[in-house]
Amino acid sequence: MMFGQNFVFTLNKQLEDKHISETVDFEMDVMKFELNSNHNENEKETNCKREGAPLTIQASGHKYVHGVSGRLMPAVIDLGDGYILKALQKHPRGERELSFYQQIFDQIYVDPDIQMLKSFLPHFAGKVDRGEGSYLKLSNLIHGYQRPCVMDLKMGRITYDCKATQEKILSELKKFPPAQQLGFQITGMMVFDPVKETYEKFSKEYTRKLTEETMVSKGLSLFFGLNRETNRNDLLHPLLAKLRELELWFSVQKKFSFIASSLLISYDGCPQVKASQSCTENVLGNSIKQSYVYDGGTAKDTVESNCICGEVIEPSKSSSEFTSTINHDHSQDKNLADKIGLHLIDFAHVYPSDSVDHNVLFGIRKLISCMESMLR
Ligand SMILES: Nc1ncnc2c1ncn2[C@@H]1O[C@H](COP(=O)(O)OP(=O)(O)OP(=O)(O)O)[C@@H](O)[C@H]1O
Ligand SMILES: [Mg+2]
Repeated sequence: MMFGQNFVFTLNKQLEDKHISETVDFEMDVMKFELNSNHNENEKETNCKREGAPLTIQASGHKYVHGVSGRLMPAVIDLGDGYILKALQKHPRGERELSFYQQIFDQIYVDPDIQMLKSFLPHFAGKVDRGEGSYLKLSNLIHGYQRPCVMDLKMGRITYDCKATQEKILSELKKFPPAQQLGFQITGMMVFDPVKETYEKFSKEYTRKLTEETMVSKGLSLFFGLNRETNRNDLLHPLLAKLRELELWFSVQKKFSFIASSLLISYDGCPQVKASQSCTENVLGNSIKQSYVYDGGTAKDTVESNCICGEVIEPSKSSSEFTSTINHDHSQDKNLADKIGLHLIDFAHVYPSDSVDHNVLFGIRKLISCMESMLR
């Protein structure tokens, strides 16, 4: 069984934490780049709060992008107040995404189609210019979760637009051939296992090896922990209800064609949110704390054997910090539908249209049938 280079990630946003792999060291260096200009701790802390930190729990996409001076800047910044900043992509993709959000949020639409679409989008709070570049300010879709679990699904059988070069078309087709049959692909996911107290990161190197046959057993099921006792099959029904609402919207809307947009599915992996288990017990018990990154091997490998390749890191959020945040039982506040997030993101290739977006609709329907198969 062969695995590629492992990438580890930090469990929280403490930039000063020292971890152990080259990749993390690299990331830490880049993060410090944001902070190094400060000379004392207080100033550093204040700056961190003001500037935000790179979003730690990110399913896929770029982690860093080049700013105007060529320096690296985080692609997604967590402002810590319920909002993130997403770096504007290169011309013309960035402008296209910005103008899509502006169209939906800046104008007062009475159009019910748009109102419905808005409920599936992060809230857009404008464009923010910083020294190194421009950002979209969006609501953080995992804000308030104790242990966010996220999965990014790129939608559509065709993931290149009409302006794509032959080279781009071939590279997109090569990335994930089963997209033709499935109409969607998992581009990455991060899942918290409450018993092992670990995060598992499934990178694109892992998910690209999934096939039509293994998409459920080695892909979607793992996001809901269906392979373990503490599974989250309670989320399948509410997710299906949301997917059907989205399917309905896509079956009638004729305004937009969404090329290479993603569905971001999210839930809180903290067991207390599922109510039946004690989060305190699971999280504070000093059992082995590890994180695994699945970035290679074949999707046919068993989950157990994949775990062997994991990188070990210490979750750096302190126990007391976590206890203080989990004492409030959010499960009392939330109804079933609130427990699972389903949002559309990534609009760098959205175009005006006058027909139904069969490309995405096909993928949503396939995803619904995959989810239904998980209930059987
Ligand atoms: N509003 C949001 N709230 C929380 N997380 C988000 C949000 N937007 C994006 N993310 C996280 O960032 C990741 C990348 O987002 P997105 O695809 O929009 O960026 P991108 O730079 O366009 O990436 P790429 O072009 O490589 O697909 C997502 O998979 C998700 O985990
Ligand atoms: Mg994306």
